[in-house]
Amino acid sequence: MVFLNGKFLPIEEARVPVLDRGFIFGDGVYELVPVYSRVPFRLEEHLTRLERSLAETRIRNPYSRAEWRDIIAQLVAKQPYEDQGVYFQVTRGVAKRDHSFPQDTAPTVFIMSNPLVNPPREAVERGVEAVSAQDNRWHRCNIKSISLIGNVLLRQLSDESGATETILFLDGMLTEASACNVFVVRGGVIQGPPKSNLILPGITYDVVLELLAGNGVPHAVRPVAESELRAADEIWVTSSSREVMAITTLDGKAVGRGEHAGRPGPVFARVYALYQQYKAKVMRAPVHA
Ligand SMILES: Cc1ncc(COP(=O)(O)O)c(C=O)c1O
Repeated sequence: MVFLNGKFLPIEEARVPVLDRGFIFGDGVYELVPVYSRVPFRLEEHLTRLERSLAETRIRNPYSRAEWRDIIAQLVAKQPYEDQGVYFQVTRGVAKRDHSFPQDTAPTVFIMSNPLVNPPREAVERGVEAVSAQDNRWHRCNIKSISLIGNVLLRQLSDESGATETILFLDGMLTEASACNVFVVRGGVIQGPPKSNLILPGITYDVVLELLAGNGVPHAVRPVAESELRAADEIWVTSSSREVMAITTLDGKAVGRGEHAGRPGPVFARVYALYQQYKAKVMRAPVHA
């Protein structure tokens, strides 16, 4: 079952008119919330980010917080699986094609919930490969826009190299990856770029920073130069679906040095464990460690 404009229906029956501005212009915003044991993880933070994306794009928010929570709870209850990824998007609605905003058009709301696949054990234990590229996306990446062609093309670069992510640099500085935020470890200190219009403010990024602060793990939110990332002891990516994942080769070169070269590092192991404990505590879900 999916949700479309006020109704629950089978996905095969869900239809959106071709003049929907999401289809024509990519004129919409979205969220993806992981659900563990049928409990949405950090839902309030995702709803806050959705509200911000809607405000930035001046798309009317059709529902109150309470209504969003209720619709999502109903959709989660209708799925046969325990762990889910709830995807929801709001577009500016259906109107004759014209770049200017239409008057009095109702936004289109579509929500689906798919089985959530946790990162495979092998990826956690061995890490994954990444490639790098210049960040050629627009400069409002803090908006979770459905216009993802820039991210799609960048992600495809890694896919075609057999890698899992594409790490992005703008003017010699790390921004993020095609669908994740990025942290590095240098000299025992975890570092990640500050929030700005050049990166998506990740919910997982916030969880990781909270865990680091709460557990006294040395870290600094500061700009990271490309040269610093390339010389880092560890590189990780974070997102709702990838959780925290170690990048163990970048552009075919092993990340880190000594016995940890090309393998997930000790700081990653600690933070991964903290993340799993936190998930288990908050969701009362099994620990995937
Ligand atoms: C470009 C980009 N950056 C970062 C993230 C991570 O965000 P979150 O932790 O909220 O999933 C995503 C997630 O989809 C993303 O698409």
